[in-house]
Amino acid sequence: MTDMTNAADMADKTYVSENFWHDAVNKATTDLFTFGYKHIIQPNFVFNLPPDEAHESMLKFCEVTKKVPPLMWACRTMLNYSDPILETEVMGVQFANPFGLSAGLDKNCDMPVLLDNAGFGFETVGSTTSRPCQGNPKPWFHRLPEYDSMMVHVGLANMGSDKVIDRAEQAWRSAREMQMSVSIARTNDDKVGDLDEGIEDYCISMRRAAGRTAMVEVNISCPNTTAGEPFTASPENLDKLFTELDKVERPQPTLVKMPLNKPWGEMRELLDVLAAHNVQGVSLANLQKDRNGLDIPRDWEGGLSGGPCTRASEALVAQVRRAYGSRFAIAGIGGVFTAEQAYSRIRAGADLVMFISLLMYRGPQQITVLKRGLAELLRRDGFAHVSDAVGVDVE
Ligand SMILES: Cc1cc2nc3c(=O)[nH]c(=O)nc-3n(C[C@H](O)[C@H](O)[C@H](O)COP(=O)(O)O)c2cc1C
Repeated sequence: MTDMTNAADMADKTYVSENFWHDAVNKATTDLFTFGYKHIIQPNFVFNLPPDEAHESMLKFCEVTKKVPPLMWACRTMLNYSDPILETEVMGVQFANPFGLSAGLDKNCDMPVLLDNAGFGFETVGSTTSRPCQGNPKPWFHRLPEYDSMMVHVGLANMGSDKVIDRAEQAWRSAREMQMSVSIARTNDDKVGDLDEGIEDYCISMRRAAGRTAMVEVNISCPNTTAGEPFTASPENLDKLFTELDKVERPQPTLVKMPLNKPWGEMRELLDVLAAHNVQGVSLANLQKDRNGLDIPRDWEGGLSGGPCTRASEALVAQVRRAYGSRFAIAGIGGVFTAEQAYSRIRAGADLVMFISLLMYRGPQQITVLKRGLAELLRRDGFAHVSDAVGVDVE
């Protein structure tokens, strides 16, 4: 799928929001699904399993359901809410809506058919690495329902960027509307070498991705690897990395996934480096490392998703928008659970909004709940398009 065909499709499109009956059915089915997820699916098929097993089952579910066209049709017809107010263009890419799956849930690109039919604007597959990678010893996840959070310690397990990018390209070409992004990271295995080896690792994946997805996200902030985070530790290292990545010719825009917990002075130094390179956007941000005030067993390793990210992530989005204006497109990530929170993230400066924990805690129909809710909030406040609301609270 190219941006041009996507734009043409959008021109001919009919919208759920403009058809009384379709809108009513869509709303009723979404409410029913929300009830069913809370009272039947989550207690009996998700939270009754250890989180690592629940994750495996979810991937198997996607694998099976994508091969059942009537189910995909039902998902699309009943759950996919569309509305022209949500369409947006960011970094030259057209999106049916600003919501995307954040990196990490679909590491090997197993979910695009389901997500496309459920109505995501885009998804990020990966993070994927130049060599296939086992990740850290399990458990990878601990559930923290009292904080709407997961403790994540996967360590970049994935089948390798050659395979993942092949799959992402296929998914992008055959998607109805959804855009595909791939997150690339440095391999986390026992062959990890010096800084130059790390840079070449990213370059291999970037060369593989060039021209084959709508966007690339460079993950420099994975908190769970043996090599640590050398590219967020010093602006010089980051500059070296992007000097080499700049040499990889690619037509699609590049986002950089930033850490959440840097002091602002250090964050600015990193962003100043990125501003001098072929980088169009920043994804704000990765997992929360700060456990202060949270009751979490000391021996649980990893970073926190969901609730503990909400405030810090929104503050960072606002700070970056205020300091850098339109130099970077911003993807706001972390602890978005409601349409109000998504709207607030957009008003703080996010062009796009991504999430994972919302799906795990509230179910896949939440994409529809967010889209419908955001459209209502935009209309209430007199905006004609979602892009008109970006950054209004920090101007
Ligand atoms: C299961 C899981 C795996 C993740 N793996 C990655 C990853 O591979 N790369 C990455 O950049 N972020 C990864 N993350 C971080 C998410 O992309 C996101 O930044 C974080 O979860 C905050 O969003 P949320 O509160 O909506 O979950 C992962 C998060 C979760 C929950």
